[in-house]
Amino acid sequence: MRRSTFLSFSVVHPLLLLLLLPPAVSSSSPSESLYANFLNCLENRTQSPSSSSSSTYQFSQSLFSQSNSSYSGALNSYVRNRRFNTSSTPKPLLILTPSLQSHVSAAVLCSKHLGLLIRTRSGGHDYEGLSYASSRSDDPFIVLDTFNFRAIDVDVAGESAWVGSGATVGELYYRIWEKSRVHGFPAGVCPTVGIGGHFSGGGYGNMLRKFGLSVDNIVDAKIVDVDGRVLDRASMGEDLFWAIRGGGGASFGVILAYRIKLVRVPETVTVFRVEKTVEHNATEMVYRWQYVAPATDNGLFMRLLLRPITLEPRKGEKTVRASVYTLFLGDAERLISIMARDFPELGLSKVDCKEMSWIDSVLWWGRFENGTGPEALLDRMPDSVNFLKRKSDYVREPIPRDGLDSLWDKMTELGKAGLVFNPYGGVLSEIASSETPFPHRAGNLFKIQYSISWSEEGTEAANDCLSQMRSLYSFMTPFVSKDPRRAYLNYRDLDIGVARSSGNSYGDGSVYGVKYFVGNFERLVNVKTAVDPENFFRNEQSIPPLPSKSRTGSTSSMARHSTLPRSNMKLIESGILVSLLIWGNFFL
Ligand SMILES: Cc1cc2nc3c(=O)[nH]c(=O)nc-3n(C[C@H](O)[C@H](O)[C@H](O)COP(=O)(O)OP(=O)(O)OC[C@H]3O[C@@H](n4cnc5c(N)ncnc54)[C@H](O)[C@@H]3O)c2cc1C
Ligand SMILES: *[C@@H]1O[C@H](CO)[C@@H](O)[C@H](O)[C@H]1NC(C)=O
Ligand SMILES: *[C@@H]1O[C@H](CO)[C@@H](O)[C@H](O)[C@H]1NC(C)=O
Ligand SMILES: *[C@@H]1O[C@H](CO)[C@@H](O)[C@H](O)[C@H]1NC(C)=O
Ligand SMILES: *[C@@H]1O[C@H](CO)[C@@H](O)[C@H](O)[C@H]1NC(C)=O
Ligand SMILES: *[C@@H]1O[C@H](CO)[C@@H](O)[C@H](O)[C@H]1NC(C)=O
Repeated sequence: MRRSTFLSFSVVHPLLLLLLLPPAVSSSSPSESLYANFLNCLENRTQSPSSSSSSTYQFSQSLFSQSNSSYSGALNSYVRNRRFNTSSTPKPLLILTPSLQSHVSAAVLCSKHLGLLIRTRSGGHDYEGLSYASSRSDDPFIVLDTFNFRAIDVDVAGESAWVGSGATVGELYYRIWEKSRVHGFPAGVCPTVGIGGHFSGGGYGNMLRKFGLSVDNIVDAKIVDVDGRVLDRASMGEDLFWAIRGGGGASFGVILAYRIKLVRVPETVTVFRVEKTVEHNATEMVYRWQYVAPATDNGLFMRLLLRPITLEPRKGEKTVRASVYTLFLGDAERLISIMARDFPELGLSKVDCKEMSWIDSVLWWGRFENGTGPEALLDRMPDSVNFLKRKSDYVREPIPRDGLDSLWDKMTELGKAGLVFNPYGGVLSEIASSETPFPHRAGNLFKIQYSISWSEEGTEAANDCLSQMRSLYSFMTPFVSKDPRRAYLNYRDLDIGVARSSGNSYGDGSVYGVKYFVGNFERLVNVKTAVDPENFFRNEQSIPPLPSKSRTGSTSSMARHSTLPRSNMKLIESGILVSLLIWGNFFL
């Protein structure tokens, strides 16, 4: 069995066959040969017989081999988590930065042809680096970076826009603001987050209680499918269009753009921040917050941040600080009256409230310095990149007061891990759970983001921070959703399950799949089975297709299996490909 797989493998994988040659024997390095083959294939797929060498020129500007001196720069430019910027992180064999749809189509077909996987990157904010790194050394891949697809076309009269997947949410907010002071869009708070990952995975921000998620406001899309076809909503059909509004783009194709409907924002909005430590009755405030924040006026979004801090005067003594960050879609006077009615425990006074335009509230939430102009939202590069780990949970019943007290003890004991509570309710919860793949709607009071960031190199700091995250997550078990314990796809967390590169991808996928998608998982599997039955678009947490046996009821799955790139895995078992990749790195 192993032997025959190996043979069929070598037939269908010219690239890997090539890599099999020891370096001394090959005329050029594996990395260079792969580059040449891929370039050749791209050219063949995009050039009409009569045309000149113009596409050659374009590809030679956009394809980076590992031996190219610009390779690291191209890879690192959108790495947003230093955990995946190490020499041992499996790296893409090639990086492609296409600027035409036809080039994306060619890249899909050529990757398939050469037995490579594609990792598509937009903003690069994936918390587990899945858009550019791999935790599996057995799946050779290329990175397809969509940053050239960042056109944003705002149609104010039609209250809609086309947004390229490589744009950032900051660019989107800016382009809307350029044309209208009374329109906005409900999406994330951090301006450098990319559209491709953010929208395809749900996308929430501080207007979710008024307008729902980003995906609740998407009306069309363009995607390149596994056969290289460019499809829009009409040609992809409602099932695939449903899936790429929350099910994650990476399982289904390469998304080129989304069409969104703009939402109306008032000319004046109000923000405030109130902070209390446990010594100043934070417990009561947090306890009450759980009842008020998910139920108050839909225009009011009160994010709660919990952090362990060290009290300066009594040095060394730790406490927890609770901060409420708010956006209210209205003026300060109305906000004060709503707060007096719903949340007197917060003790909000008018001096705490700042009235401003919606775009300035975007900057305030993005923690830009007071006075920063909206142009700052066009800056695609964050000042610094840290090591990060995030996890998520959903709370369906308020945490009792003594639960909060024990949480403060746990957080001060751990010392670094923080929590962010994002209130649900409002429009988000009025939309049916099956409307989009994002299932966490009615019944959820708030989402917890577990958050830890560090800047010290080395495994000691990393292990300490990762174990703090896991310990806090374990501590929270009695207070959060169960069966399944739910998670938000865009807060990618490989701790909750991963698919191995071969074997029972459906069995593996159900483990994390029901946590991310609950009752929508099976429909996602059905869409996947229809559009990508061979599971070309896959990663550690992609949607698996149904096993081919249960699909067709026939016995053809064995025959099919041996011609699939998935059969790489059999090779891995014998350790061959691993050493190939080591050779590959040797040429870096
Ligand atoms: C600083 C920071 C702040 C954040 N704030 C928020 C927030 O306020 N609200 C929120 O909802 N989330 C937030 N997130 C999470 C964020 O939404 C996700 O990480 C999201 O997936 C990032 O999208 P991206 O394009 O930047 O990521 P990428 O890393 O480029 O991609 C993420 C995933 O999507 C896939 N993908 C990307 N582009 C495409 C494409 N064009 N076609 C197909 N698949 C694609 C990738 O392959 C990968 O699997 C934040 C993350 C960070 C790091
Ligand atoms: C590309 O096309 C040319 C001419 O048709 C052919 O000689 C060459 O083998 C093709 N290359 C690939 C990689 O398909
Ligand atoms: C590296 O790749 C880029 C993009 O394809 C190309 O423009 C450049 O000429 C290459 N550099 C070298 C030294 O090959
Ligand atoms: C990644 O690591 C390289 C080499 O250590 C460094 O030059 C680069 O700045 C790092 N990039 C990020 C995003 O941290
Ligand atoms: C905390 O709350 C209690 C009872 O609600 C009150 O008596 C006390 O004054 C408050 N302390 C502070 C510092 O606000
Ligand atoms: C920004 O600064 C101006 C001028 O000092 C001040 O009036 C305004 O309240 C400040 N805004 C915020 C949000 O702090």
